[in-house]
Amino acid sequence: MNQPTMAGVAQLSPPSFVKHQKLIAWVAEIAALTCPERIVWCDGSQEEYERLCEQMVRSGTMKKLNPAKRPNSYLAHSDPSDVARVEDRTFICSEKQEDAGPTNNWMAPAEMRSTLHGLFAGCMQGRTLYVVPFSMGPLGSPIAHIGVELSDSPYVVVNMRTMTRMGKAVYEVLGIDGAFVPCVHSVGAPLAQGQVDVAWPCNDTKYIVHYPETREIWSFGSGYGGNALLGKKCFALRIASTMGRDQGWLAEHMLILGVESPAGEKHYVAAAFPSACGKTNFAMLIPPAGLNGWKVTTIGDDIAWIKPGADGRLYAINPEAGYFGVAPGTNAKTNANCMASLEHDTIFTNVAMTDDGDVWWEGMTKEAPSHLIDWQGKYWTPAIAAETGRKAAHPNARFTVSATQNPVLDACWDDASGVPISAFIFGGRRSTTVPLVTEARDWTEGVYMAATMGSETTAAAAGQQGVVRRDPFAMLPFMGYNMSDYFAHWLSLGKQLAATGAVLPKIFCVNWFRTDENGAFIWPGFGDNMRVLKWMIERIGGKAQGEENVFGITPRFDDIEWAGLPLAPEQYARITSIDKSAWQAELKLHDELFEKLDYHLPPELRQAQSALHQRLLG
Ligand code: OXD
Ligand code: MN
Repeated sequence: MNQPTMAGVAQLSPPSFVKHQKLIAWVAEIAALTCPERIVWCDGSQEEYERLCEQMVRSGTMKKLNPAKRPNSYLAHSDPSDVARVEDRTFICSEKQEDAGPTNNWMAPAEMRSTLHGLFAGCMQGRTLYVVPFSMGPLGSPIAHIGVELSDSPYVVVNMRTMTRMGKAVYEVLGIDGAFVPCVHSVGAPLAQGQVDVAWPCNDTKYIVHYPETREIWSFGSGYGGNALLGKKCFALRIASTMGRDQGWLAEHMLILGVESPAGEKHYVAAAFPSACGKTNFAMLIPPAGLNGWKVTTIGDDIAWIKPGADGRLYAINPEAGYFGVAPGTNAKTNANCMASLEHDTIFTNVAMTDDGDVWWEGMTKEAPSHLIDWQGKYWTPAIAAETGRKAAHPNARFTVSATQNPVLDACWDDASGVPISAFIFGGRRSTTVPLVTEARDWTEGVYMAATMGSETTAAAAGQQGVVRRDPFAMLPFMGYNMSDYFAHWLSLGKQLAATGAVLPKIFCVNWFRTDENGAFIWPGFGDNMRVLKWMIERIGGKAQGEENVFGITPRFDDIEWAGLPLAPEQYARITSIDKSAWQAELKLHDELFEKLDYHLPPELRQAQSALHQRLLG
């Protein structure tokens, strides 16, 4: 790669609305290192969005979908090697290794800086460096924070515009000296003079790097999802979790939904699930027939920033402004609200294209179209799929859509002060062992449940699928600091809130995914999860009953509303039963986790574990 030089960088001067000298100097510094052909300061306008989409249509990165079928929508196909988050290439570079903790990849900051300096030198040659200012959270909200991403990917720019509050207004909030998190991103594919670009540039060498002390993000080599849209997992979870630790708040991998009873009683709950476990579906849930009058509305589908309010309650915002959801499996039955959101102005990535210029993915319709162009641009038919197992859409194919297109968007979704949280829900994908729903008896027991959560892995991350891994708080891939310190942070926040005399949010653990002897799900899930949500809301209001078991409190068959769902009591018993020997084995796995997290592990969690152990023996 060539040595860094400023020669030939066009449009270096920022537009007049940018007045932040530190930002201007930083952009110049990164341009000097990466040597882009030009710099574009993004304003977030519709015109800019359309211009970049058209540019990507010309370069082959995206295809425009048939406007009669899907107006203002595009389909991007990534390189087959760049389809998911790369957890093994994700680093937390704190000064001390123990501050990253045993669940994160770590490298000393100085060493990482020197590695990255080598990789970033000249890496934007022949490309445009886009300056992307964004706010995570409502502009100007006391809970929100600002970031600026420098990226050489127009795909990143248009996705960031949908996923965050991006553009000119951010500079107004930043003023002349406002704080921002600097995020540097490159696809790592410099272009030599005259070299023809590929449709999806990327690099086999990938680094997704966080410096928690200096609150910086550097990402190299990938253009996909959480690797590249740096406001999402990198900022809103990994960096924000360290900000939350230092400043007394929480950055969580949680959806936030509003639920209103027929009597008009409204609560907000936040729910953590690992990637690709139905968070978007839960956040947009349509109550089933039989629960008429109940309403669910969405604040967010993936991330929550939660701060204690003056009244001792916890208030949450969705730092994002859009949904980057998993397409396969989404259909009019599983998530009609989502399907309605995707009717126009949507970017699809790695789904298949139909003959009439629309999109399709596995599970979208019962019958697949007779032929398609699959996510790798190859001819696809159901017969080819049957013969080769080749999917039309990649299992981690995504849609990017603005929250404002969600027909059940909560009226308070953009409120600067956030919404009060009445309950936390933690759920994993477990085919055995974990019951449908359990309420923790107290905050510490709830933190224990969340800390020891396990889940079968999905396609959202590169690597083997379907193996159970411990995923504390569904934060394993997203923790910006030592996991045990994070548990301690949750415990101390609980104590702090309790000390104000406030009623703490209840904590529930759920598992929608228990299967029968044929591997079929026993619980119908989707809209029927409302039955569980209703029980929770009534528990919060002190109106519903449950039964204590070793693990917590679980509704008996008659505590659940069954109108419209013929689930036999025996089936219900199968998804709520606690198999003591399976739990003995489960506790051994909790032990393994605690051994790994021994450094700084709060003693309260070991105590909660031994109480559970005793109850199992009893
Ligand atoms: C996501 C994920 O993209 O969790 O939300 O992987
Ligand atoms: Mn997620």
